[in-house]
Order: sequence, then C-alpha cells, then structure tokens
Amino acid sequence: MSNYHIKNLEEYFQVYRKSVREPENFWEEIAEEHFVWREKWNKVLEWDFKKPEIKWFEGAKFNITENCLDRFLPMRKDKTAILFEPNDPEVEAEHITYSQLHERVCRMANVLIEGGIEKGDRVCIYLPMIPELAISVLACARIGAIHSVVFAGFSSSALAARINDCDAQCVITSDGSFRGDKVIDLKGIVDQALQECTGVKTVYVVERTGNKIEMENGRDKWLQPLLDEAYADCDAVVMDAEDPLFILYTSGSTGKPKGMVHSCAGYMVYAAYTFKNIFQYKEGDIYWCTADIGWITGHSYIVYGPLLNGATTVMFEGVPSYPDYDRFWQVVEKHKVNQFYTAPTAIRALAKEKLEYVEKYDLTSLKVLGTVGEPINEEAWHWYNNNVGKGKSPIVDTWWQTETGGIMISPIPYVTPTTPTYATLPFIGVQPALMDDEGNEIKGNQVSGKLCIKFPWPSMARTIWGDHERFRNTYFDVFENKYFTGDGALRDGVGYYRITGRVDDVIIVSGHNLGTAPIEDSINEHPAVAESAVVGFPHEIKGNALYGFVILKETGESRDRENLRKEINLQIAEQIGPIAKLQKIQFVPGLPKTRSGKIMRRILRKIASNDAENLGDISTLLNPEIVEDIKAEVL
Ligand code: WT7
Repeated sequence: MSNYHIKNLEEYFQVYRKSVREPENFWEEIAEEHFVWREKWNKVLEWDFKKPEIKWFEGAKFNITENCLDRFLPMRKDKTAILFEPNDPEVEAEHITYSQLHERVCRMANVLIEGGIEKGDRVCIYLPMIPELAISVLACARIGAIHSVVFAGFSSSALAARINDCDAQCVITSDGSFRGDKVIDLKGIVDQALQECTGVKTVYVVERTGNKIEMENGRDKWLQPLLDEAYADCDAVVMDAEDPLFILYTSGSTGKPKGMVHSCAGYMVYAAYTFKNIFQYKEGDIYWCTADIGWITGHSYIVYGPLLNGATTVMFEGVPSYPDYDRFWQVVEKHKVNQFYTAPTAIRALAKEKLEYVEKYDLTSLKVLGTVGEPINEEAWHWYNNNVGKGKSPIVDTWWQTETGGIMISPIPYVTPTTPTYATLPFIGVQPALMDDEGNEIKGNQVSGKLCIKFPWPSMARTIWGDHERFRNTYFDVFENKYFTGDGALRDGVGYYRITGRVDDVIIVSGHNLGTAPIEDSINEHPAVAESAVVGFPHEIKGNALYGFVILKETGESRDRENLRKEINLQIAEQIGPIAKLQKIQFVPGLPKTRSGKIMRRILRKIASNDAENLGDISTLLNPEIVEDIKAEVL
C-alpha cells in the first residue's frame, strides 16, 4: 500500500492513525517517495508553539519548480499542464504543455534575473487570471524570489499597502483585465498605487486588453519583447526547506493586512498530498478550480497542488455570469472536466437562475465536486449535488485558511462519507481540538467550541511578514500550545466537524475574508463621519453581507443621506475594493459600548439580522438606552 494515494475507508483510518502516532515517520515517507530533492533533510520536524517556531524538513535542499515541471519533462512533456479558457468563449482555449510551461517559466525567470531580482527579493504580482499569472508565480519560485500575489480586484490603496508592507521592488501587471464585457484599467490602478511606493524600481506589463495606458520611462517595461529575447532555460536556484516561498495577505482584526509567510518544503509536500487525495486525481483527469490565483485556493489548488502531481489544471479568466449564466457548465462540457472546485457563493448565485442553464450540458465527465471559502448551506449543497453532480459526484466541503496553506478538514471522495453542510473528517496529519472559553479542550462527541489545531502540519504559515509578535498573538496566544483558527465548530455524534463560522471580527462575504477594522477605518475617513461599526448579516447569495452603523458628526446632519451612503461606499471601494462595500448603512446617534469602550458587536449583529427580540443582558452597557434608538430605525 502506498500512503500517498488513499483508496478506501480502511486505508484512511489506518493512514490517519499513523500520521498522528508517528507524524515524523509518516511525513518523511511521503516526502521521500514523491518529490525530488537535491539534498535530504537532517530533521523532519522541529516545533515550539510558544515562540512559535515551526520547521519541517530542515536541511533539505531543492526547488519546488523542479518538482512541478522539470521532473515531468521526460514522461509528460506533451501533456497539457495549464488549460487556459479565456473570458470570451469565442476565443480558442490555450493548451500549455509541461514543456512549454517549463520554457515560459524559464524565460520569465531570466527576465526577472536580468532586472536584478535575486533570491529573497519580493515581487508583487497584480494580474488577471491569464497564463502569465501562473508563470510569474513559478518564475519567482524558480529563482527564489518571494512572490506576493495581490488579487486584481483590490484597489490602488490596498495594493500600495501590500507593496509597501513587504518592500516589493518589482510589480508584474497587465494593461488591463476583462470583467465580463468590461475592461478594467489595471495599469492605471498600479500607477496610482505606486505614487505611494518609492521602493518599486520596475513594472513589467503584460499586453492583454490593448487598453491605452501610460508607460513611465525607465520604470515600466512591456514584458513580451523581454521574454522573446530571454534564454529558454534557467537553472533553478537551490532553496532551503524553510526559505520563504511566498507571502499572501489576509485580513485581520486590525486595519493592517497580515502578510502570511509560507515556506518551501512543507508547503510543497502538503499541497501536493492534499490535492492528490481530496480530488482523487488520476492520470489524464482534467481538473478545474474556479478560484483566482490571488487567493490561497488558487496558489495551492490551481498552481502548486495540481502541477506537483503532473495534472492538467484549468485556468479560467472569466466570470460565471458572462456571456450568460451557463458559462461554468459550458466549460465543464467543453473540456470534459473531471474535478470541479468552486465557492458556495457562486453556487447560490447560479441556483437562482433557470435550471436550463445547467441541464443543457453534458456534465457526465464530473467525478468530484468541491466547495471552499465559507460554510455551504443545505439548500445550495442539494442544488449542487442534484443538478451538477446528478447525485453521482461526491461533494468535498473543504475547510481551511490562508494560514493553513492546504485543506485541513474535508471528506475524501469515494473514500470517506459526505454529509451536507459538514466538512466532516480531519485530513491525514491534522489534529483538531475544540476549546471552551476557559481554555480547556472539549473531548467527546456532540459538542461545539472554538476550533484549534494541536499539532503542526507541514504547510502551516511560519510567520506574519515583519511582525512575528502579531503572529504569536493572533494564533498561538489564545489557547496554550495550540494554533487557534478563529472559527467555531461543532463535532457531531459520529465525530464529523461542521464549521459554524468566525468567532472574531472577520466576516466572510461571498467567500472573501474581510476584517471589520479596515472597513471601519475607511468609513471613518469620510469627513462627515464620527464613528462607525460594521457587522455581518445573513445574505441569500453572498452568505453574509455588511451592515454599517454610522455616527455622523454634527456637520453631517443636514446632508442628503442617500448621497452620503454613496460617498461612503465609493470611498470603501477605492480604499479596499468593491467587495468590501456595505449592503446597508444606518445612521445612528450612538453605538452600544461596554464600560471599557468596546463596541458590543454581538448586539449590532442581532439588530442587523432582524433578530433583536432577545438581546440577552445589556445591563453591562455604558449606554443601554441607545439600543432602542438603533432598533427603531433598523433598515
Ligand atoms: C476562512 C478562511 C481556504 C481558502 C479560502 C478562504 C472560512 C473556508 C470553509 C468551509 C466553512 C470555511 C473559515 C475560515 N471557510 N472554508 N469549507 N466551511 N467555512 O481562505 O480567506 O483565509 O478564509 O474561511 O471561516 O477561517 P481565507
């Protein structure tokens, strides 16, 4: 039996037990048998959650791109690595083989080297979902530069903050991106961001839309001519196991985004192993994850996980609704997709449309369906199961986080059972714990608590870029000797996990992780605003939407309320991005606060959710009378 590919329930239990009893032996075996190393490690694992310090495979030397590309050249050079499906269905799809991808990554790596980028330098990638995005990511990894991909829906200020936080000296972008039938001026956003970023020396520009843009002399360079001139081969830089591979920003409960740092070896091993098993990928399968590479899902399960397994991974530039609501299913039929991985918010949006959109297509190629990013509600689960999977494709509800690098709790299709709304069982090597508020682990079944992980897994984040103290505070200080996820969970009678949602100030909107603090900071910058509080409330399609309670300064009283709402949302869109816009804005005379001045969000959440009947004890509030005033004008 190979522990790399788990094929039945008995194997799952057997391998899981081994991974918990002898984690080092277990992971060493996986690492040894399924990857290529220049030099082996001295020690499999060293860890201390107090510091915290986590090291996997220390002493090992290798390069992740040799594992994604070079090792497959003898056997799979003509196999499609990336299957690019453009925004416009009339434009032909592009099949990039393993050898072509190898060459394009090498050329890009040589362009970066020529531009002075060295091992350890940070490169910011701000691109739409086009092949150059994956190629840039891999080119950085090839030369040991740390990639920091910023989702191309983020605004110029959000981009600038991320560039400055990690001191990126180079940005890779494009002249524009397609969004349905619109063109977004990405380069203009970069130009604006760079007014605040003095450290950026070079901007490489991919020509994608033909949009007219400004090129700044000496700083901006069209990429294609440089690629054409570059050598088609590039030796991979030999990396240490714990060298950083990438930084990816995620929201936190203060205004500043957290640059989660992932390191090379552990991330590689875990991304590859989870991909193989959770999608039951078999040679020849066509795999499609609809996420954007700007999120962790795209890093681990569009680029690294699939390529590390020599798979064919679909990269989709478009959106589910353009030119019409059948686009996903059209692509599934066209490319005979076998594994399809998407977000509950997309499923809910498509479930609202006519069934014809799905029924028109032959979806019999599908073997595995997946969801990620937020809890999936029962109704959406059944719609997905009945209409897309026709009751024949198991749905893997995969729970994980930017911080975890890979999937942590999920069914394994055809191996372990699935249950609607449950992420079910911990993946191999993952040791979850539910905690009570006193800091004790809650044992047994049919219990709920705060979800922690009590033993390191290879792909866990190692630090927050430039702020190790915040890393410790946020994740390792809340419960002793445990990684705290920020989520609540329930463990049912048979030991299956169901994620119940965030227990902190993070709100998941359409699967995007948004911190309340940066949104409030942005609202408060409006000259008419004195103070604000943002909470989530249930939304049919987005899962959650944002509700803002805003106190105006006196000068704001006489102003047009509708206009103010527009201005506030415009400001949020400019400073963070359109995904952070508020669904509802209620102007209030005050906010419920504790005696220590902390806003009681619990109360605001109930009011926003139209569930203000039972607010519990509000006597500890500094200003209990304000609650009635707010309730009276709820939107
Ligand atoms: C948060 C992490 C993991 C990639 C995308 C999101 C929520 C994620 C599930 C799921 C219920 C989920 C959690 C988590 N979440 N997957 N299957 N069921 N909730 O990554 O932006 O770092 O967000 O997303 O609340 O903590 P992220």
